Formats: sequence, structure tokens, C-alpha cells
Amino acid sequence: GSRCSSGASSWSEPRALPVPDSPNAVHEVEKWLPRLHSVVIGPGLGRDETLLENAKGIIEKSKMKGIPIIIDADGLWLISQQPSLIQGYQRAILTPNYMEFSRLYEAMLRDPVDSSDHHGCVLRLSQAMGNLTVVQKGERDLISDGEKVVVCGHEGSGRRCGGQGDLLAGSLGVLAHWAFLAGAERTNGQNPFLVAAFGACSLTRQCNSQAFQKLGRSMTASDMVAEVGAAFGKLFET
Ligand SMILES: *[C@@H]1O[C@H](CO)[C@@H](O)[C@H](O)[C@H]1NC(C)=O
Repeated sequence: GSRCSSGASSWSEPRALPVPDSPNAVHEVEKWLPRLHSVVIGPGLGRDETLLENAKGIIEKSKMKGIPIIIDADGLWLISQQPSLIQGYQRAILTPNYMEFSRLYEAMLRDPVDSSDHHGCVLRLSQAMGNLTVVQKGERDLISDGEKVVVCGHEGSGRRCGGQGDLLAGSLGVLAHWAFLAGAERTNGQNPFLVAAFGACSLTRQCNSQAFQKLGRSMTASDMVAEVGAAFGKLFET
């Protein structure tokens, strides 16, 4: 197979590495790791057992190297089955939608989500995971590092595209690396991963809004990707 389960990001050279569903895959990816600034695991992964085993191995190797890891989609399913895989690794960022969030929350807190207290739930999930950064995607995105909860309700439109989550996870890979390099001195003492998450949510929403203005309800995630340059300039380069 050649599904992508792991992507690397530097701003100039984001790559999607095809991870073969062979027992050797982890070793293959390990050769790449010294050149990777961050790893995004989940989009397009699926739940095939061999692929999940490989994803697990890649997470373990990335942790050993201290590489920031973004976990999305079926990567989150893997985590809900085996939280210890990522628990306590504070260079990880999880990006669950509401469904994925509920599954993780119930696995960790042994309680259903309290729908009258979304902020508290996001905070508690982050704490239960050992204060790694959690981004609950939704009409407004809720972000927590176990200490604070930040809300991103920037722009956007009523329309969410399939694939929009991939754009968030990918841009988060880049911004997490940047923020991590910059360190807390350059993020006003804020947790760099919290700042990166807010930035990536804002960027994704800005892309959504710009594409929607041009194309209305026919916009797709590719149309959003086409807006990244302009959106980035508008948000971060003024
Ligand atoms: C997580 O953060 C909270 C709030 O800052 C703190 O009380 C707690 O000790 C932290 N837990 C870990 C595992 O770092």
C-alpha cells in the first residue's frame, strides 16, 4: 500500500511519506526522522492493523527524538485505544473533531462529555493526557494546554469542507516547529504549542473565509489550500 500516514514539514518542503504496510516501514521512516521538523500522523491512515502498528512505531521513534507530533483522524482512534502511547509527551498536539474528542474523553475520564461545559472538558482532557495540547475543532475551536483554554473564533464561514482538517493538521506541523524553535521567550511566555495551535486555527479559518467569498458553497479544501499564501500574509505579515 502507499497510503500516507506520516508527513513532514518544513515551510519550503512539506512532504508526505508513503508508509508501506510492511514490517520494515518503521525502519524506513526512521531513516527520515533526523531531517523532519515535525510529524503529522493520522490523515488517510485508516485502521488496518499493520498500518496502525507502523504508526505506533513512528510515534515512539519521533518521541525519542523529541520531534513535535500532530495527531489527527485515525491517529486519534489509535490514541483512544492506547493513550499511554502519547500521554505526557508535551510536544504532541491532538486535533479531534467533536466525535473524536468524545471518544478520547470517555476513554480517559471514564465519563461522558459535559455538553454544558466544553471549556472544562477540553481542559480536563489535556490534563488527563499530561498537559499536551488539545485542539477541539468546531464552530469555534477550543485549544488547551492543561493550564489555559483559548478560543479561536476567527472569520470562517458556515461551510466546512472535507479535507479542511488536513489543512489544519499540516499547517500545525509547520507552526509547531516554528513556535518550538522560537521558544517561550519569543511567544510572550505562552506555551509555544498553544500559540502554534491558535495560529493554525486562525490560518485555516482565514483560508475558509477567503475561499468562501470567492466560491460560496461550491468551495472545496483544495480551494482553501490555494488561499494559504494570501491568508498567511494577511494574518501574520502585516
Ligand atoms: C498540568 O498543568 C496543570 C496546570 O498548570 C498543573 O497543575 C499540573 O501539575 C500539570 N500536570 C503535568 C503532568 O504537568
